Amino acid sequence: MSCCHHYELIDGKEHVFAVDPSAIRFGPGALAEIGHDARALGLKRVALFTDRGVAGLECVATVSAALRAADVDVAVFDEVRVEPTDASFKAATRFAAEGGFDGYVSVGGGSVIDTCKAANLYATYPAEFLTYVNAPIGDGRPVPGPLKPHIACPTTSGTGSECTGMAIFDLLERHVKTGIAHRALRPTLALIDPDVTRTLPANVVAASGFDVLSHALESYTAKPYTQRSAPDGPALRPMYQGANPWSDVGCVEALRRTGAYLVRAVRDAGDTEARHGMMYAATLAGIAFGNSGVHLPHGMAYSVAGLIRGYHPDGYPGDEAICPHGISVIVDAPSVFRLTAPTSPARHLQAAALLGGDVAGAGQEDAGEALAGSIIAMMRDTGMPNGITDLGYGEGDIAALAEGAYAQQRILANSPLPVNEDDLQNLYRGAASYW
Ligand SMILES: [Fe+2]
Repeated sequence: MSCCHHYELIDGKEHVFAVDPSAIRFGPGALAEIGHDARALGLKRVALFTDRGVAGLECVATVSAALRAADVDVAVFDEVRVEPTDASFKAATRFAAEGGFDGYVSVGGGSVIDTCKAANLYATYPAEFLTYVNAPIGDGRPVPGPLKPHIACPTTSGTGSECTGMAIFDLLERHVKTGIAHRALRPTLALIDPDVTRTLPANVVAASGFDVLSHALESYTAKPYTQRSAPDGPALRPMYQGANPWSDVGCVEALRRTGAYLVRAVRDAGDTEARHGMMYAATLAGIAFGNSGVHLPHGMAYSVAGLIRGYHPDGYPGDEAICPHGISVIVDAPSVFRLTAPTSPARHLQAAALLGGDVAGAGQEDAGEALAGSIIAMMRDTGMPNGITDLGYGEGDIAALAEGAYAQQRILANSPLPVNEDDLQNLYRGAASYW
């Protein structure tokens, strides 16, 4: 059986995988149930994190009203920065620390949920900012204990942040994206109401949808957990444990749904089946990569987003240079999967087919091209940038991009094959343009 072969047990290597569960309620109307959940968690006064773009939407009003109806006091912080920074995390932490809260609610995209995780962390266990940030950029110290309850309510069908223990931000002085990763950051409960995607701009659905697609692809093709060295004890088992049989289930279904629904959801905001389908795909992919981890496309995306200048897509607030996370990921993906296909050709071919590609007659040697082709076809159908050239990068930027990606060692360790800085430079060259 292919799964057994993929996870062959090897002496001295890891034999055990962990399933860290996410508590989830999914469906139209889920947000209105938050009062019950807050009371069940014993909350009396919560900080509600959102951003200015979301603050005026019906979903925030629904959540606030449901909390107040349950006699839960609510203080709103709507200054979350889209694509947060260390400075914006610190501002959110000040609000959290000064408000006397016994719990947290986040209503927004990945930026909002990640900011809420960080504010909860630093308000609960104050420390120098770099203490918990991933090594080697930060100290990578583990979170000392449980955080206060956090109910996450995603408003985009993308990041899966409501299911993960990660919080991503730009470290301004280093011009690099990095993050904090620990199981304790995983929200206590995710309330996922797919109706919130009804009003999302097409470009936001596209960018966040490609993030979903790449979460699933990267989790499915990551280094199998059985190829990682056995940890010295269960406490040292990394959250990014590699591909495993639990995550595979979510990956396959997330890919199938993304193949069926992403283009439809972008093209027609009224296509409820497609928009709901993408929301569930995002949830499944979030559960999957929250238990396995991502690899090269996400590692490369950090510097693509961190070094961006002069690019600002439609549908995003403000006018400063910004590269939405999903775009920074997907522009790298075809180049990566052309390289990684020989490590698990059957999985790459299966993924190409799940995304709608025609793989009839394709052999193992065709797997990379088939999967790249499926992704590129979807990028073209949804108006994505044609590789990093369209984002403003040229040959003169390749070394800096690769240097930034090489700093993401925690993510690169999950790659199905080892890469050095020269390899990363070649991957960026392969991502220059696709059509
Ligand atoms: Fe992502």
